[in-house]
Amino acid sequence: MFKLETKIDVNSKEFKENKKAFLELLGKYKGILKDVTKGGSENAISKHKERGKLLARERINKLIDPNTPFMELSQLAAYDQYDNGFPSAGIVTGIGVIQGRETVIIANDATVKGGTYMQWTIRKHLRAQDIAMENKLPTVYMVDSGGAFLPEQDTVFPDKNHFGRFFYNQARLSAMGVPQIAIVMGSCTAGGAYVPAMSDEAIIVKNQGTIFLGGPPLVKAATGEVVTAEELGGGEVHTRISGVADHLADNDTHAIQICRNIFESLDEHKKQMLDVIAPEDPAYDPEELYGIAPVDFKKAVDSREVIMRIVDGSRFHEFKENYAPTLVTGFARIMGYPVGILANNGVLMPESAVKGTHFIELCTSRKIPLVFLQNITGFIVGKDFEHRGIAKDGAKMVHAVANANVPKFTILFGGSFGAGNYGMAGRAYDPRLLFMWPNAKISVMGGQQAANVLISVKKDQYAARGLEMPQEEIDKMLKGIVDKYNVEGSAYYSTSRLWDDGILDPVDTRKVVGMGIAMSLNNPFPDQKFGVFRM
Ligand code: COA
Repeated sequence: MFKLETKIDVNSKEFKENKKAFLELLGKYKGILKDVTKGGSENAISKHKERGKLLARERINKLIDPNTPFMELSQLAAYDQYDNGFPSAGIVTGIGVIQGRETVIIANDATVKGGTYMQWTIRKHLRAQDIAMENKLPTVYMVDSGGAFLPEQDTVFPDKNHFGRFFYNQARLSAMGVPQIAIVMGSCTAGGAYVPAMSDEAIIVKNQGTIFLGGPPLVKAATGEVVTAEELGGGEVHTRISGVADHLADNDTHAIQICRNIFESLDEHKKQMLDVIAPEDPAYDPEELYGIAPVDFKKAVDSREVIMRIVDGSRFHEFKENYAPTLVTGFARIMGYPVGILANNGVLMPESAVKGTHFIELCTSRKIPLVFLQNITGFIVGKDFEHRGIAKDGAKMVHAVANANVPKFTILFGGSFGAGNYGMAGRAYDPRLLFMWPNAKISVMGGQQAANVLISVKKDQYAARGLEMPQEEIDKMLKGIVDKYNVEGSAYYSTSRLWDDGILDPVDTRKVVGMGIAMSLNNPFPDQKFGVFRM
């Protein structure tokens, strides 16, 4: 493979200005992250510690293999919602390595509203289970939760993808042969009691963990029986009398060690083989991405400049370099794994869509994971292109992306607007992971364009009545829509609602993709089957 050569002058004014603006965005993100990942209020944290309990992230650090990273997901879930009363939505989820196995970890944060589940807590828990299912990853539940956040029961209980889905997923994961271990380290109430009960093995901490369908107040109200939480469903009860849990632990650290011991006896399973070689750093410093990442979307970025700072040795075997230049396609390696990269270099034209489709077919037939680098304003519009059938060419790409049976990973390094989001493996196309850089934006179209469309519709309504739309109304509408899109299109708005798996410092992109590919190998890639492509 040939090494890409940069055309960027890192000493130029333009590069330096972009870097300065980007570092401001990154600094803001890191500040928010630091605050949010502390967990609940200082009071709640000291109460938790006084009870001899470890914090959720401390528990995870002890669970994973020493000196291995934990890829935490959706750290800013629920950010800027509910008066910021639910840091990380009260749950920590992610992928870590336990006894050498990539594992999904789901840990309640009891310092946030007693670890109860509001709508985004539910979404995070379900998303983590989806990852376990797609990649066949063992799952550990570190339970410390008061169950449903009762004031919001309508957003957590009744629907398909609400609380009940946890246990449906546990049953399906179990049937797929995916090991699931629960460590009950605090409250595990009502429906939550099914988490340990539906796991392969359950550990409970003495004088700390409790499991019951109805807690003492409910029992008293229902039957008049007065009973303590420990007598009703403590560790001794469940490991000696009921058999709902299998191992009694003295404290958090002991429970975590028992869980690690369980991992020693998990079966060896079949993995997807890939041609993997030793990883190599990019030849260009990934920190240069700070000067390249588009802060001002009006400026075009050659996506090869991004690729060469992400891939091993900055080497890239470009496919159809001179054809359909608005989509860059080619083969490379990331952390030693082979990848096929599709990166936007302008608006998607009919020939870019066909080129993308061809390239996806190549990667699926060679069983090479796909990486989508999104910076897309959409597919081209206009009479000529409609006549040439842009809809059917775009459809080919969307079809190929949807049916591609190799793992897909999507990074939004700039804009993600319109149907371009579909063709480039947006959230609806089941990429195994989707991350946004802090400068990235996502919406159906840009705010200005949306305002123009709506103003034009309004103007037509006025014209039909023989009137002209007043200028103040135009200005008001324009401002209203642009402001709204600016807020709703931001990476923060997206990540708060789990439209992605998190915001990413660009320099971490290759590590995240590498870890994503490593986890995806746990589920061998199925043979490829496409449907009908409209020609
Ligand atoms: N719904 C909404 N909020 C809840 C809640 C629930 N199910 N359970 C606890 N909370 C809130 C409390 O109101 C409190 O909020 P605040 O910080 O704004 O004051 C916070 O969570 C912490 O609760 P607290 O009781 O002070 O903490 P704790 O650590 O001593 O006890 C629990 C935590 C979860 C063990 C305890 O609150 C409890 O038993 N809750 C009820 C559990 C239940 O019956 N759930 C049934 C759901 S189906």
